[in-house]
Amino acid sequence: MKINTPLTPPLTVGIVGLGRAGWSLHLEPIVKLTEFKIVAVADPLPERRKEASDLTGCTEFTTIDELLAGSDAQLVVVATPSATHNEDVHKVLDAGRHCIAEKPLAFSAKDANALVEKAKSRGLGLFVHHVHLHRPEFYFLKGIIESGDLGELFSLRAFWGFYGRRWDWQTLKKNNGGQLNNTCPHVLSIVLPLLGSPVKDVFSDLRNIKDAGDAEDHVHGVLRTESGVTADIVVSSVMAQAAPRWLVCGSRGTLLADDKGGKIRFYDGNAVEPLTVLDAAAPGRQYLSETLPWQERDVSVGKEAPVPAFHQNVLDVLTGKAEPVITPESAAEVVRVTEMLHKAAK
Ligand SMILES: NC(=O)c1ccc[n+]([C@@H]2O[C@H](COP(=O)([O-])OP(=O)(O)OC[C@H]3O[C@@H](n4cnc5c(N)ncnc54)[C@H](O)[C@@H]3O)[C@@H](O)[C@H]2O)c1
Repeated sequence: MKINTPLTPPLTVGIVGLGRAGWSLHLEPIVKLTEFKIVAVADPLPERRKEASDLTGCTEFTTIDELLAGSDAQLVVVATPSATHNEDVHKVLDAGRHCIAEKPLAFSAKDANALVEKAKSRGLGLFVHHVHLHRPEFYFLKGIIESGDLGELFSLRAFWGFYGRRWDWQTLKKNNGGQLNNTCPHVLSIVLPLLGSPVKDVFSDLRNIKDAGDAEDHVHGVLRTESGVTADIVVSSVMAQAAPRWLVCGSRGTLLADDKGGKIRFYDGNAVEPLTVLDAAAPGRQYLSETLPWQERDVSVGKEAPVPAFHQNVLDVLTGKAEPVITPESAAEVVRVTEMLHKAAK
């Protein structure tokens, strides 16, 4: 990401939307970093604005338009409800400000690519909050796949299941709610970079089983990449008992793990004879069999990711010291695959 003019701390920040994400995932961690200064917030709810101004001394606005017109925030966080992210991020970039955007960035590849292009052409930072790319679980999976112990990756299963009834705005299609827009971007943000090539085709089953609104609370998606790797993804709040979160299958071994760690079972390819087909009657009417030199190893997810926390990385990029952990292009790819899954379910 090429930033036009690297900034000098303190970086002035505006936050639009002071809900679950805007407050807990952005305002609170940003307040802790002295290189940032929150100068403006916008939310239609006066009590939320006041809470923020009491804490930070920032100026209060009701809308994003007022905030952009009335404050000099160099970086603006878009943490509004999902349906307006695309439009809000355009506004931020049009105003010449760097942008942190909550996921999902947009709802079509065309819209997401337009945002990425706009940020790039103006030398502005666009940081989509795919926070799982800053967590150790992704680096655990990547490390195991890249170690080669499992052989060549051909299939992966991600199972993010629990049971919980929901009745907020995220359960309505008119708000672009539902598990596919809401939780799946997290899963896709870490699964897509593991697959080795872009997704070519998908199967998708979206169900509303028990939530109050009409959006899906159960997603079953199957992705196939250009090189033939498949990813079977279940993201469901209708699973009263969960299966292990990850099953990663390579040509010589398998990882079975949850978010803390698990076990790999594999064999060394050099420790076995190459196979040749015996295309004849099975000798002695027996099935051909062998004993493979299986190895098993417990593996655990590290305590820390080998990358800085999200807002620290944003700071480092905007001050010209680092590259982004989450590229805008990778966020656009999540949108492209999400759109494919929506279309395939129709
Ligand atoms: N990255 C993550 O882990 C994560 C977690 C939670 C939510 N999110 C995302 O954050 C976004 C917000 O979700 P939430 O759970 O915080 O919702 P929320 O309902 O808790 O909060 C939304 C806030 O935005 C305000 N708001 C509504 N319309 C607005 C407008 N036009 N301008 C300014 N403010 C407005 C509301 O008053 C409210 O304070 C969603 O898109 C969601 O996908 C991401």
